Amino acid sequence: MTTTLADNLRFLRALITNPKSIGAIFPSGPALAQAIARQIDPGAGPVLEIGPGTGVVSQAILTRGVAPQDLTLLEYDEEFARHLAARFAGVHVVQGDAFELDRTLGARPPFGAIVSCLPLLNFPAAQRVAFMDGLAARLLPGAPLIQFSYGLHAPVVPPDGFSVTCTAFVVANIPPAKVWVYRKI
Ligand SMILES: C[S@@+](CC[C@H](N)C(=O)[O-])C[C@H]1O[C@@H](n2cnc3c(N)ncnc32)[C@H](O)[C@@H]1O
Repeated sequence: MTTTLADNLRFLRALITNPKSIGAIFPSGPALAQAIARQIDPGAGPVLEIGPGTGVVSQAILTRGVAPQDLTLLEYDEEFARHLAARFAGVHVVQGDAFELDRTLGARPPFGAIVSCLPLLNFPAAQRVAFMDGLAARLLPGAPLIQFSYGLHAPVVPPDGFSVTCTAFVVANIPPAKVWVYRKI
């Protein structure tokens, strides 16, 4: 699935308003979205995507076979959140701050996979580590925490008891990106 012109404009508007939290010049391309979705086992439990933006990766997750009612999208930008709710019937869209997970998500059953699309390298190392620790606590045993990044190295040193693997280097993306998977050892 390719991104529409309307989605590109929506993304550009958000980038101009809040460059640090968008952190990319275009939405992810289909090759990157698929490389992320491939890491998800659709039968393994509910899935959380953080920072879905215009919904490119969300669409790939649904195409992978995750049922809409099993997908939660957590997005900070209000216009993106409205757009996602209109675009994906049956999906849970939560508008809020992923750095305050307890407030935005509250108590929920653990997830079978978490995808983070946040531009983590734009945030201080201590904030990145706290963020990943919070996500790790919300995963089912053995479930993947998937993060893409434009940097050469994993954006966060794995939390205690976790490993990290680069599962894809997607050259056919602007800019090229790596897909990192963190798992409990
Ligand atoms: C690099 S864009 C990725 C968008 C989309 N997933 C993609 O791959 O094209 C980062 C997204 O994270 C969202 N975001 C940034 N900070 C956030 C936060 N603290 N809480 C929730 N979403 C956030 C932005 O609004 C944006 O939609």
